[in-house]
Amino acid sequence: MPLPDSFIQELKMRADIVDVVSDYVHFNRSGRNLVCLCPFHSEKTPSFRIYPETGSFYCFGCGAGGEVITFIRKIENLDYIEAVKLLADRVGLPMPENSYDDGIAKLRTRIFEANREAARFFYAQLYSEVGKSALNYLRNRGLSEHTIKHFGLGYSPNNRYALVDYLKSKGFNDHEIVSANLAYQNKNGKISDRFYDRVMFPIIDLRGNVIAFGGRIMGDAKPKYLNTSDTLVFKKSDNIFSLNFAKNSDKKHLILAEGYMDVIALHQAGFTEAVATLGTALTSEQAMLMKRYVDELVVCYDADEAGQKAAQRAIGLLRQAGINIKILTVPDGKDPDEFIKKHGENGAARFKQLLENSGNDVEYRLQKIKQTCDMNSPSDRVKYLTEAAKLLATLDSKIEQEVYALKLSEEVNVQKEIVIQQVNKLSRRKNNEYQKRQFREIQDNMSARSDKINPQKSGKLRAAKAEEAIIAYLVYNPDMVRIITEMLPPEKIITDFNRRVYVCITTRLLNGLGAMPIDIASEFSPDENASIAAMLAIYQREAATIEAAEEYIKTILSENDKLNMSNNEKTKQEDILEYMKKLKEIKK
Ligand code: CTP
Ligand code: MN
Repeated sequence: MPLPDSFIQELKMRADIVDVVSDYVHFNRSGRNLVCLCPFHSEKTPSFRIYPETGSFYCFGCGAGGEVITFIRKIENLDYIEAVKLLADRVGLPMPENSYDDGIAKLRTRIFEANREAARFFYAQLYSEVGKSALNYLRNRGLSEHTIKHFGLGYSPNNRYALVDYLKSKGFNDHEIVSANLAYQNKNGKISDRFYDRVMFPIIDLRGNVIAFGGRIMGDAKPKYLNTSDTLVFKKSDNIFSLNFAKNSDKKHLILAEGYMDVIALHQAGFTEAVATLGTALTSEQAMLMKRYVDELVVCYDADEAGQKAAQRAIGLLRQAGINIKILTVPDGKDPDEFIKKHGENGAARFKQLLENSGNDVEYRLQKIKQTCDMNSPSDRVKYLTEAAKLLATLDSKIEQEVYALKLSEEVNVQKEIVIQQVNKLSRRKNNEYQKRQFREIQDNMSARSDKINPQKSGKLRAAKAEEAIIAYLVYNPDMVRIITEMLPPEKIITDFNRRVYVCITTRLLNGLGAMPIDIASEFSPDENASIAAMLAIYQREAATIEAAEEYIKTILSENDKLNMSNNEKTKQEDILEYMKKLKEIKK
């Protein structure tokens, strides 16, 4: 059900794109537009722009674009109606009635509700007769009542229908329960609980919704942890456990641990800035998400080989996202939870020491290289120096390079200048390669993306570009709609996608309605909205005057003529062939 135009107009006035985006990124002004690092991909030079005039944004690096609703859809991973609702709540605008009829949005809401009920149920079970052993388990692991309550921990009873029966009694149907991944369908068509006889850890998003669960078995059976699979409201690779709490910590850093129990033990010990990925390797989405809250991350992975490998990988991703990294190594092969528990009363103080002594990632990585070298052997010293120089060349900060070059030169006993020279040579090469690659990627991405939305564009490039310029001109100069449509009726637009956009915009304008990106957003998919934002960004200056617009229209019309001519010729040829065929038949 489309939202009334008057509502969108009100939202447009109140939900200013600059205000909204600034909740998620820091930016600088550049002329009348705003520029910043893109929140949707990792980059070192800002290519994300906000255009207050049209209420749109566009990233020249990754092609993300649209207006304020599309921005919220992308960054909060919501559908159209949900994003509108979030914005409306933010500015205190009541949603119009009946706007929640959309099937998928409704199902998502039901999944949130089912998860919340499930969390309540698991928590209640923990304090009932059946939950005794689970409660003991948690207490034995050192958790206080307060911690258990704070994290909303629970217990899923050893009965395949406990939760299903409960949720049904609360009015949820099979489809909703299965869609939440709280149950699965049996062979006999009945549904049964996904989690049974496990200690339950709810996973809560940044807005306080329960989006998933992790469940730990109390014995040695496998799998040790069972997690909710991806659902309409949960994507494992995008979420971070406990960020909902950690984002409110007043620390300037986050501590990234590996497991649920590590995070919970750390919070109990006062380190409320602790978070974890959900049993997966860190992704760039997660890195970008953390970057929204802090500039520094203390990586605190397990000391085993898997943990160290994961740490090395994470460092690369975090650096790319522009996060400063420190590495905290827990001694004796323990994980943070075991470490804190082992030290009992002093656990928090001892961990605080580790935190204060944690080195930055460059030191950590140099150490890793050094471990493979015998520093008494001259050839190994050269190897160390070479590998170390390669590492320093990957750093963006000149000062950082200098500091480590000095340290390295003292360690291996060579002149600092020689180390610096080597590093500079390698960084120049790396930078050139980086820039070339980035440029190529942008070019490739841009054409690939616009081809996907407008597949006719590559074959009709001249016309398609002129069409896009005219669309931009109309958005910037809505008063000219009559003149433009007289010169350029919609049927003259050659590529289908651009014609759709042109028709939508001109029809609205001719009927006295707005045609800014936000006004037409509901008519297009997020990718299509991004394409429209791209047109506005690219042709902002080029399509500024009526003279320029006339030129573009001339181009489109002449491309039309060419097309008609070749069509006519084709028809002529077809006619001749047909005629000759007939002649042959007569002759026979
Ligand atoms: N994990 C998972 N599925 C598994 C094993 C682990 O999802 N089968 C995830 C969990 O988020 C877990 C994290 O990986 O917290 C780290 O795993 P591991 O180090 O094996 O467990 P711990 O966190 O140490 O758990 P515990 O202390 O309860 O043994
Ligand atoms: Mn553990």
